[in-house]
Amino acid sequence: MDLTGTTVLVTGASGGIGAGVARRFAEAGATVLKHAHRADGDFLRADLTDERACADLFAEATGTLNAVVNCAGVQPDQDLDGMTVADWRAVVDTNLVSAFAITQAAAKAMRDNGGSITHIASIQGTQPAAGHAHYCASKAALIMHARTAALEYGRFGIRVNTVSPGLIDRPGLADAWPDGVARWHAAAPLGRLGTPEDVGDACVFLASPYARWITGHDLVVDGGMSARPTW
Ligand SMILES: NC(=O)c1ccc[n+]([C@@H]2O[C@H](COP(=O)([O-])OP(=O)(O)OC[C@H]3O[C@@H](n4cnc5c(N)ncnc54)[C@H](OP(=O)(O)O)[C@@H]3O)[C@@H](O)[C@H]2O)c1
Repeated sequence: MDLTGTTVLVTGASGGIGAGVARRFAEAGATVLKHAHRADGDFLRADLTDERACADLFAEATGTLNAVVNCAGVQPDQDLDGMTVADWRAVVDTNLVSAFAITQAAAKAMRDNGGSITHIASIQGTQPAAGHAHYCASKAALIMHARTAALEYGRFGIRVNTVSPGLIDRPGLADAWPDGVARWHAAAPLGRLGTPEDVGDACVFLASPYARWITGHDLVVDGGMSARPTW
């Protein structure tokens, strides 16, 4: 893929997946604007649960914006019994309300030239996981939000999609969650965890001219886990 001459804004670029996405766009030749919430470094910083901060972020990203990949998100483990409304809101605000504000701001920036918006959802947007009721609900709604945005913004040449990763490796994961990682290895048809670059390549594809007729789609990137029969 050659994205030379294009500009992409990657939110959550200080995180595991966001960093991989930013790397793959840079390797494809794109100019990459990297966002983070609090991380130090070469980032545009904004709390994306704050609508004003989100609009300001897009104002900072001056020039033609061809693509946005929204990787910002949180994924805390909490059983329903111990969960408060504040816990629920914190996840939904970060994973979903922010996506609404980002989509609106991005669509405004892309209205004259078209563009591509990709939100990172999750296979947990279509498959439940204990301890993740708020997270699963936020990702399910994110997928539907993107499909609806695709309907409304198609006439401006703006495509809106989601990428739903499976379990993505990060330093320390196998030590922190040995049984989960072992179960994943045993069950995934492609026999390994994902990498941030696996997700990044899917996002580069969706932002490229090769995906010019793809919008309102949820692209599952999970080594085949979702294809596994459950009976
Ligand atoms: N890891 C997986 O296996 C997996 C699988 C499926 C889907 N996902 C999804 O992929 C996305 C990235 O996951 P990850 O594993 O890379 O997470 P991560 O390493 O924890 O990174 C999260 C990113 O989100 C940013 N962020 C958090 N709260 C924010 C806020 N209020 N405003 C703006 N930015 C905020 C963080 O910024 P700071 O660093 O500055 O705090 C960081 O850049 C998430 O949406 C996650 O749900 C992950």
